Amino acid sequence: MTRIMAIAAGKGGVGKTTTTVNLGSALAKLGKNVIIVDTNLTTPNVGLHLGMHGKMTTLNDVLEGNANIIDAIHIHESGMRVIPAGLHMRYLKTTNPNRIWDTVLDLFGSADFVLLDTPAGLEEGAKAVLNAGEEVLIVTNPEIPALTDALKTVRMAYESGAYVVGAVINKYRKDPKALRKEEIEAMLDLPVIGIIPHDDEVRKSIQAKNPVVLRKPKSPGAMAYKRLASELAGVEYTVPAEGLPVVNALKRMFGV
Ligand SMILES: Nc1ncnc2c1ncn2[C@@H]1O[C@H](COP(=O)(O)OP(=O)(O)OP(=O)(O)O)[C@@H](O)[C@H]1O
Ligand SMILES: [Mg+2]
Repeated sequence: MTRIMAIAAGKGGVGKTTTTVNLGSALAKLGKNVIIVDTNLTTPNVGLHLGMHGKMTTLNDVLEGNANIIDAIHIHESGMRVIPAGLHMRYLKTTNPNRIWDTVLDLFGSADFVLLDTPAGLEEGAKAVLNAGEEVLIVTNPEIPALTDALKTVRMAYESGAYVVGAVINKYRKDPKALRKEEIEAMLDLPVIGIIPHDDEVRKSIQAKNPVVLRKPKSPGAMAYKRLASELAGVEYTVPAEGLPVVNALKRMFGV
């Protein structure tokens, strides 16, 4: 069965796109058949995170009735398939987001996971991607403004009949001022199913247009995304032995 899952937040810049591309890549590496869709029609970023832009058929072409969904599916080197959104300014006036859900439903049966990168905010574009029968994964940061917007998104998701699977705390730092996991769980009334540390390799990977799980698979950010993918796929996460400091120290000691 295809699981359609929106990656949503309310607040901008918390890490929705970063989570979508890394979760998609990590699930593909677990052998899952994955399609990620950029439903952020106002500030589309999936193609930019993956180096997949330029002249290619996009979700906008499909929504405007100029292309078939099949033509908008492009294969990424991780094995996942990607439906990018168009970058051109003119799409802001010409593409109507209201048919997004019907288009996404056409992908039902074509993948194990269809992950939707969603726009920030709580307006029409964000509402259009929250629908009955869908799963929603909330991305937030350990600070009050992100959390209050996340809470509004959770409410909006429930109103639309979607099922919220849990929250991911992204850009997590050991900081006494940061909100704790338990506080976030209590405020959202949701389980936190992933904690992704603030990791400079994540930012560098965006610059390199290559998700951190592929570019630096042993970095703390990548390992956290792989753990989250395992959790969602229901498979056991195995830490790569080379990533463990104690293993590295032993190897150095024995000169291997
Ligand atoms: N785990 C992380 N560690 C360090 N930096 C991060 C991490 N996740 C995201 N970032 C930084 O935050 C920025 C915003 O991330 P991203 O584009 O994924 O957010 P978004 O929620 O999709 O934003 P928008 O609302 O604009 O679509 C990235 O450009 C990156 O620099
Ligand atoms: Mg984004």
